[in-house]
Amino acid sequence: MTLATLAPYRNRSIGSTPLSSILTYIQEHNTDGALKDVDEIMLHVQTSNEDAIQFYENFGFEKGELVEGYFKRIDPPDCFVLSKKLR
Ligand SMILES: CC(C)(COP(=O)(O)OP(=O)(O)OC[C@H]1O[C@@H](n2cnc3c(N)ncnc32)[C@H](O)[C@@H]1OP(=O)(O)O)[C@@H](O)C(=O)NCCC(=O)NCCS
Repeated sequence: MTLATLAPYRNRSIGSTPLSSILTYIQEHNTDGALKDVDEIMLHVQTSNEDAIQFYENFGFEKGELVEGYFKRIDPPDCFVLSKKLR
């Protein structure tokens, strides 16, 4: 899944709204069913994408492992793994 807001519409909470909903939904439904035992969420962000890293850090994600060559069609091809514990 990719999260992106068209550039002219950024900084209007458009990105935060679905991310916040997803985090809340998982935290409220990870005791049974398909989300049972989901206790961490992870994503990949291009190393140069400081805006997105800051955006996710504001939600409690922490920058972790550097993965070299993760992306095939963009430069730089490297990414950080960001993760957030849900409980
Ligand atoms: C990352 C991305 C999805 C954020 O989308 P967005 O719609 O701008 O997100 P929001 O408006 O909810 O939040 C962005 C910032 O605006 C701020 N903001 C939100 N509403 C605001 C408002 N009404 N007035 C001023 N600032 C506001 C937020 O606090 C946030 O601050 P931050 O930069 O410190 O994180 C967007 O920058 C994007 O599409 N980037 C390109 C694609 C990308 O990098 N995707 C993620 C790859 S993993």
